[in-house]
Amino acid sequence: MSKLAIRSLPLVITLLTAHGQAAVNFEKDLLPVLQKKCLDCHSAPTVVDGKPKKPKGELRLDAAWAMLKGGETGPSLVPKDLAKSYMFEVVNLPKDDDMFMPPKGDPMTAEEIKLLKEWIESGADFGGWKGNMEGAPADAAAAGGVAKPAGPREHEVFYTKLAEGLKPATEAALAKAREGGAQVFQLKPDSPLLRVDFLTGVSKCDDSKLSVLTSIKDNVAQLDLGRTIISDAGLKAVAQLSRLASLDLRQTKVTDAGLEALSALKNLRTLNLFGTEITDAGLKKLATIPSLRQVTVFQTKATSAGVAELKKALPKAQVTLK
Ligand code: HEC
Repeated sequence: MSKLAIRSLPLVITLLTAHGQAAVNFEKDLLPVLQKKCLDCHSAPTVVDGKPKKPKGELRLDAAWAMLKGGETGPSLVPKDLAKSYMFEVVNLPKDDDMFMPPKGDPMTAEEIKLLKEWIESGADFGGWKGNMEGAPADAAAAGGVAKPAGPREHEVFYTKLAEGLKPATEAALAKAREGGAQVFQLKPDSPLLRVDFLTGVSKCDDSKLSVLTSIKDNVAQLDLGRTIISDAGLKAVAQLSRLASLDLRQTKVTDAGLEALSALKNLRTLNLFGTEITDAGLKKLATIPSLRQVTVFQTKATSAGVAELKKALPKAQVTLK
């Protein structure tokens, strides 16, 4: 540790968030990076040398509302969801990829990418920064500069329906799941739906741990098993979660064989398989889940041919290969 780091330790500690990471200050840590490396191509339309200059990919990164709204392809920033945050994906692509950003000039450094990751994961707090409000939709102005990303309505309708007739999990059931090592949160205040992760002990979360989900199985709508040591066997427990809408299996040992069990999930919308060993054979199994809307197979053994097949079977799904 450098001298500087030691001297600033008390400060770092006061800035620790609930996840044990130092809080990223958007304006101080990230905005200067975006200004230097992105905004030349991703700002509000202007006129340069008498010629109109429009934001590339229809994406502006010069305002909080604009980042959340996204560009041509959809949202570029989804707080707490790295897999859906396209602006994170494009800076992590191989440098020779067409979509690698920035296409010209200095790439983001590993340290800058780490800050971006932490900031998104911790909820993308702009700390009051709004950026350029020119062109902002009226609701963004009303919401203090932070517009809802495109498509929240459909999403909300879906979750409201999912919760219909569902009783909240009892305190005893919640306590049981928490004792077993799960972190359990309400999806929204007043919602009986739950979000579960094992982030306090991913390296200890194996298939046997998933039995803790039994007590709350009707209520789990979102489950994050990313980077845990679960395997195909664990997906049998996952398949019992009848209201599961979002499942994160990134960087786990699950394989094509395990995905078979997921076809029991009639409400599954979002599935993240980033960094797993799944192949096109696994994608074929996913074709039997018509509720899927978003599948991430970035850094897997799936191929673009397999993805094309899956898109054909599930025309409403967005499948992200890279
Ligand atoms: C030299 C110009 C330039 C710079 C600098 C630049 N971009 Fe881009 N960006 C583009 C172009 C051109 C596209 C459209 C590419 C395409 O669709 O094939 C694009 C598209 C994107 C998209 C996809 C938008 C969508 O919805 O389709 C994202 C996200 C993005 N850029 C993020 C960034 C980030 C983050 C930075 C800074 C690290 C950055 N860009 C820097 C030119 C640039």
